[in-house]
Amino acid sequence: MKLLERAAVTARFFRKGLEDFDTTANVVSSSRWLVEAMLAAIPSDAKVVVEFGPGTGTLTRAILAKLRPDAKLYAIELEAGLLEGCTKAIGDPRLIGVHGSATDGPALLGTSVAGRADAVISSLGLSLMDEDIRRGIMESASALLAPRGAFTQYAYVHARYVAYSQQRQRFFTWDARPFMHARWARVDETMVWKNVPPALVFTCRK
Ligand SMILES: C[S@@+](CC[C@H](N)C(=O)[O-])C[C@H]1O[C@@H](n2cnc3c(N)ncnc32)[C@H](O)[C@@H]1O
Repeated sequence: MKLLERAAVTARFFRKGLEDFDTTANVVSSSRWLVEAMLAAIPSDAKVVVEFGPGTGTLTRAILAKLRPDAKLYAIELEAGLLEGCTKAIGDPRLIGVHGSATDGPALLGTSVAGRADAVISSLGLSLMDEDIRRGIMESASALLAPRGAFTQYAYVHARYVAYSQQRQRFFTWDARPFMHARWARVDETMVWKNVPPALVFTCRK
C-alpha cells in the first residue's frame, strides 16, 4: 500500500512539475548526494526540525531516518495534494504535515516551534520566485530557528547563467550566492555535481 501511495505522489509531482514548473521547480526528486549534503547540518540530538517544500518526500524520509524517536518534523507544503500523498506514504507519527506557504512559517507553526527549530531544511526553487517571496522565506526560516540552529537551502547552479520561467515565458538569471550571503551571518557552501541538475547547498546561521 505504501509503495502504491509513494508511486502516486511521485506521479503527481511529475505532473505538477509539467503544469507549474515555477512552483515545483523540478520534475524529479533530489539525488542521494544532494540529500546527504542537505542533512549534514541537522544535529544528532535535534528535537524540532522544519522542512519547506517536502514535495514527494525524498528529503522528508531521510530527515526522519536521522531523527530521534522523540523528535518532530514539521513539513510545510503549498500543494495540498502533494502534502497529503507524501504524509500518507510516509506514515510516521513524528511527521506533522502543514498546508500553507513557507513564508508564513511562524504563524503556521506557532510559538511552540517559532524560535526553537534546531534546523530548517528548504528545497524550494528560489530562483523562480518573486523577490518578495524569496525574502519572506529567509525571514520565516530565521524566525523559526533557535539561536544556534542552521538553515539549509540548495540552489541549482545553472540559474546563475540561464534559467527559464514557464509562468513569465522568459529566460532569466539569478545568482543565489550574493542573496544568501547578504542575509545570513555565516554561510557555508557545498557543491553537489551528482544531481540533476547540479546544485549548490548553502548552510546558513544567524
Ligand atoms: C523542488 S520541489 C522539492 C521536492 C523534494 N523536497 C525533493 O527535494 O525532491 C519544491 C516543493 O516546494 C513546494 N513549494 C513551492 N513553493 C512553496 C512555498 N511557498 N511554501 C511551501 N512549499 C512550496 C512545491 O509544491 C514543491 O513540492
